[in-house]
Amino acid sequence: MFKILKPLPSSNGPVTRCYNLELVIKELAPDGVKRPVWTVNKQYPAPIIQANYGDRLLINVTNKLGEPSTIHWHGIFQTGTNFYDGVPGVTQCPIPNLQNFLYNFTVNQYGTFWYHSHFAGQLADGLKGPLIIHNPKDPYLKEYDFEYVLTLSDWYHMTSVDIHPILLSPNYKGNDPIPNSGEISGIGQFNCSTASRDSCNPNNGIATYTVKKGKKYRFRIINISAATHFIFSIDEHPLTIIEVDGHLIKPPVTLNTIPIHTAQRYSIILNANKSIKNYYIRAKQTICTPINNQTINYNSSVNYENVMGILKYEDANVKAPASKPYPFNASEECRDVNPNILKPYDIKPPQCVTHNIRIMVSFGKLATTGSIAFIDNSSFVANANYPTNRRIINGINTHTFPQYENTYTYDRYSINAIYCNDAAVDLYITANTSNSHPFHMHGHSFFVVYNGENQTGLELPDPSKFNLVNPAFRDTVTVLGNSTTVIRYRLDNPGVWLMHCHMHWHLIKGMALQLIELPSKIKNMTVPEDVFAFCAS
Ligand code: C2O
Ligand code: CU
Repeated sequence: MFKILKPLPSSNGPVTRCYNLELVIKELAPDGVKRPVWTVNKQYPAPIIQANYGDRLLINVTNKLGEPSTIHWHGIFQTGTNFYDGVPGVTQCPIPNLQNFLYNFTVNQYGTFWYHSHFAGQLADGLKGPLIIHNPKDPYLKEYDFEYVLTLSDWYHMTSVDIHPILLSPNYKGNDPIPNSGEISGIGQFNCSTASRDSCNPNNGIATYTVKKGKKYRFRIINISAATHFIFSIDEHPLTIIEVDGHLIKPPVTLNTIPIHTAQRYSIILNANKSIKNYYIRAKQTICTPINNQTINYNSSVNYENVMGILKYEDANVKAPASKPYPFNASEECRDVNPNILKPYDIKPPQCVTHNIRIMVSFGKLATTGSIAFIDNSSFVANANYPTNRRIINGINTHTFPQYENTYTYDRYSINAIYCNDAAVDLYITANTSNSHPFHMHGHSFFVVYNGENQTGLELPDPSKFNLVNPAFRDTVTVLGNSTTVIRYRLDNPGVWLMHCHMHWHLIKGMALQLIELPSKIKNMTVPEDVFAFCAS
């Protein structure tokens, strides 16, 4: 459970903030059932990291997991440095067991972010926590009195160490593993009568957020799931969205239910102006891939409908809530909030597109490259001993990476040699699968200029239908099945940026692509000594 966030002590301008994260495996029971959990400082979810806009973060990670690890700062652009993005084989060599590594970067962003391991299945096994960047001049500060962090997550009784070999076996005929429970802020309920284990605690408690009547609360909601999409609501309380994935919106948008996919974030303002009682917080898990009886944990007793928490008014009696849920809206399942209503606070998409890149997303196909198009594949392997960015600095021709490393290179000039001062990339992501995928890009947020709504088949959308005025600006977008989503971002951040489906079970199958942005600029970077110290070659 997360406590009320206290404002950070005031400072005159940016400061350096130091954190120590010790990665360690510990037996915990987030939903009442004990299992080994990959933790930070023995905590799950990992502790909240906080800073102010402009601060420098020095985060010392000590790895005591007994296996390698890296940490990625989800949504942080890492502008000017590609070495602290935490992707093994792409931006760094993994931190070996019993070694420590200092992540060192400045945050010129503010909003709701999170951090997680990017190594093997450690994210699914618990290694993840909130990263909150405040802005003492946030224009919405006056709109609320207090703030809270709330995480949503799926939870599995099998560790990824047990799941991966089954999932990745060529004979596996099932689909994405089914969770055993869902959690609000790391607390889940599991029906112990179905437990095949001796250690099941039927009174595990429930995430409870206390509010005072008449006050307003900013809730920073983060979906830290391995793979699950949720529809979030708080009974009888409309939720006013002010921030999406680390970017303010204007005007705020008030909804009763908010669909939120893996890795996405929303800040909402809740007005505690209802009668003094208790109300349910609800997160309905939506399973976005079909289940068959070969699927790992297909007979799970997970309660999809009722992942619950409690919103408790101060002085309300201790009775269980009798509050009314908002009606369920099937059209929100496995989708995002409409990107056209989440208008950025004060930014507009760039208009001069120098590169159109096409990505086809599918399962089980081999990579093929073309002049513009790139076909995604299901066999992504990075070189853990010689990260991509370092090879570029050492002078490799970026068009000669092996196919299984799945790279796509683009530089200042497009093949048509168009020149713009404010150059942009249009990335067309086509899901050649029946289900949707939450795609995340490192190094950038992007405008969702087209979300594939009402589109059928795999033909490319008509650019006249793009929203080039005020589309959502975010870092994770749900690409609908059998359709194309188009995102636009500035060509301004040299680095090797991973672009991948954030459903862990898809990422581990290889649904990932390395975007090599502005290699002519990457070449002039210098690898810090501590970054290549872990590399064998
Ligand atoms: Cu949450 Cu590759 O990222
Ligand atoms: Cu996916």
